[in-house]
Amino acid sequence: MTAAKPLVFDLSTCFGRGRVTSKHLKSFEKMLIAAKERVEREVAEEKLGFWKAPELQAKPKNLAAMANLVASWQGHYDTLVVVGIGGSALGTRMLLNALTHRYHNELSAEKRGGMKVYLLENDDPDSFEALWSAIDPLKTVFNVISKSGTTAETASQFATVLQRMRKLYPNSWSEHFVFTTDPEKGVLRPFAAQHGIACLDVPPDVGGRFSVLTPVGLLPALAAGIDIQGLLKGAAAMSRRILEAPAERNPALRIAGLHVLADTAMGKNMVVVMPYADGLRDWTEWFCQLWAESLGKRSAEDGREVRAGTTPIKALGAIDQHSQMQLYMEGPDDKFFVFLHVEAFEKKVRFPGKKYLPDELNYLSGHTMQELIQAELKASRFALSRQGRLSYEIRLPKIAAETLGQLIFWAEATTCYAGYLYGVNPFDQPGVELGKKFAYGLMGREGFEKFKQKIDKAPAPKEDHLL
Ligand code: PA5
Repeated sequence: MTAAKPLVFDLSTCFGRGRVTSKHLKSFEKMLIAAKERVEREVAEEKLGFWKAPELQAKPKNLAAMANLVASWQGHYDTLVVVGIGGSALGTRMLLNALTHRYHNELSAEKRGGMKVYLLENDDPDSFEALWSAIDPLKTVFNVISKSGTTAETASQFATVLQRMRKLYPNSWSEHFVFTTDPEKGVLRPFAAQHGIACLDVPPDVGGRFSVLTPVGLLPALAAGIDIQGLLKGAAAMSRRILEAPAERNPALRIAGLHVLADTAMGKNMVVVMPYADGLRDWTEWFCQLWAESLGKRSAEDGREVRAGTTPIKALGAIDQHSQMQLYMEGPDDKFFVFLHVEAFEKKVRFPGKKYLPDELNYLSGHTMQELIQAELKASRFALSRQGRLSYEIRLPKIAAETLGQLIFWAEATTCYAGYLYGVNPFDQPGVELGKKFAYGLMGREGFEKFKQKIDKAPAPKEDHLL
């Protein structure tokens, strides 16, 4: 099987007058080399869990564990519900959005070719009951995904499903569950062992937002019928490309450098991520979490207060040309734009001939819908560039497992390099942890009483602040 074409990163709209100059680049050279060497060292020492994931998961033993589970469901279950949030759900959502039919869950079993896959992410009671009323529990497997096993949104929905399933199927409820969690820690492991529930590992050295290419994303993807070997192959190809390239040809290092430079030297403290393809809409959502949670840090690794990070903004071309673009063109010059261009869409929609069109729409005749959306991307990027805005474009040959694997790994590596360039640890999330602790306190969880007390002691809102 031949390898998929590599992604192309077009940085041409980053450089020139008012944009990045050779002086900027010179000032950054030493830092880039230091980040490159650090990553090479950590990869060689096997310290970067996410870097190892594509190779590790492609091992026959690991692929077989997932394939056997999915095979065991055939003929019994037609629906998989992922119960998870953040890094335990966004990757799956991205894979489903990009690599299954847009109406996958609505198709007949024959046309679908895999299981229906739904997600229980937010602890919104209306969404929870809506999904519960839409599925047939008898034909459903619940994949509870939580590295820690303690995340309140996931734990609460799992507990509710568990009670209902135990009542419905007192003798066989445990067959309806599979857990994806830390190999040792957390509450899910002992519960699984006690009740004979199947379990898959989240590797301990891979954090939630970097875990899509582990069983966290791969099991639901496989259940939906996605080519997970293609995903892993694409990711491994990007890993090699990054490691083997000299610094100036390394797409993750160079682009991480541009982001950090644009922020620290040019005041572009936001990044607008704008694919022109509906199949990449949830890639953007996944990327925004990866970028924000990894880089948004108060302190550097050496303890200095740095307040690092740039704010990611989700956009979708061409829809957001009719929504956000006015601001991007004429508002503050504080954003870095990332365009994603798909070279070949799966379907071709040709516009009708002139005789079918009113005169004003004649220009469409002879063209395809793909040409239109691509022209819109080109035009927006050019127009923004004329305003002196900074942008680059990632070109995907098509939306397919191998190309998406490349794109995922590129994003993870770029985020890692950017963290090292800022001097922060891209793999922790102390800010998120604090909010979780206050929520546990409010819900009366043992050991978190002092967090509730702090909230209780906060002054009540003044009368004139409540409108
Ligand atoms: O990236 C992260 O670490 C977070 O977004 C987690 O994935 C999220 O908080 C869910 O955590 P857990 O998998 O432990 O339930």
